[in-house]
Amino acid sequence: METEIERSFDPSESFLPHSASEILASDLLTCHGIESDVLTFIAENVHDTSRTLETGAGCSTLVFALRGCEHMAVTPSQSEISLITRYAVRNEICLGKVRFVPESSEKYLPRCEMDGLDLVLLDGKHAFPWPMLDWFYTADKLRKGGLMVIDDVQLRSVAILTEFMSVDPGWRLVENFSGKTHVFEKVRDSVHDVAWHMQPYNRAEATPPVAPIKKATLLRRLMGKVGR
Ligand SMILES: C[S@@+](CC[C@H](N)C(=O)[O-])C[C@H]1O[C@@H](n2cnc3c(N)ncnc32)[C@H](O)[C@@H]1O
Repeated sequence: METEIERSFDPSESFLPHSASEILASDLLTCHGIESDVLTFIAENVHDTSRTLETGAGCSTLVFALRGCEHMAVTPSQSEISLITRYAVRNEICLGKVRFVPESSEKYLPRCEMDGLDLVLLDGKHAFPWPMLDWFYTADKLRKGGLMVIDDVQLRSVAILTEFMSVDPGWRLVENFSGKTHVFEKVRDSVHDVAWHMQPYNRAEATPPVAPIKKATLLRRLMGKVGR
């Protein structure tokens, strides 16, 4: 089912092939879990003194739990939380150090007080600009040397974020899992302490310039305004 919006939707609202959007529009249980190589990477890079946070929840939450992290999972889906909890109980996975926050990240993260994080996994809502929001509210809660794992980089709404990070001096790309998941190490104490002209992403040669508006188009627009 679709978890990014609370209302039901018609498959015609999605640009996905009808068969795929029909599944999303149904209430079928689906798992959009991250790949096993990424789960292995996370398992190998956290331990029982790690402080970790993810947007979204799923198999990844269980990996953080298994590794004994002090972990926070932010997801608005109470049914997901119940399913994960039930699975953990059945499989004797201790959730004692896991805190589920049953809220959307855009509402909760601005008041989140957990900091000094060792690893952040961004895998919540993927619609534009949620990846940027999640990044903004967690980037400086991550310690210098901590890891930011960003899933679904194949989506443009996520790619724009990792394009920025890959040229920014605050970050170093340390892993690229099949162009689908990128892992960055934070190499500065603060990445918020910056002005626009200090960000190489904003250099004209670093990104394609926004196409200048043609004279004729500009004229048409102005005429339209005058005519109204
Ligand atoms: C791709 S799944 C996460 C998969 C998970 N990382 C795993 O490995 O199984 C996306 C998650 O984002 C959650 N989600 C959707 N909208 C959200 C929002 N606004 N804030 C936080 N999480 C959201 C969904 O409920 C779901 O848990």
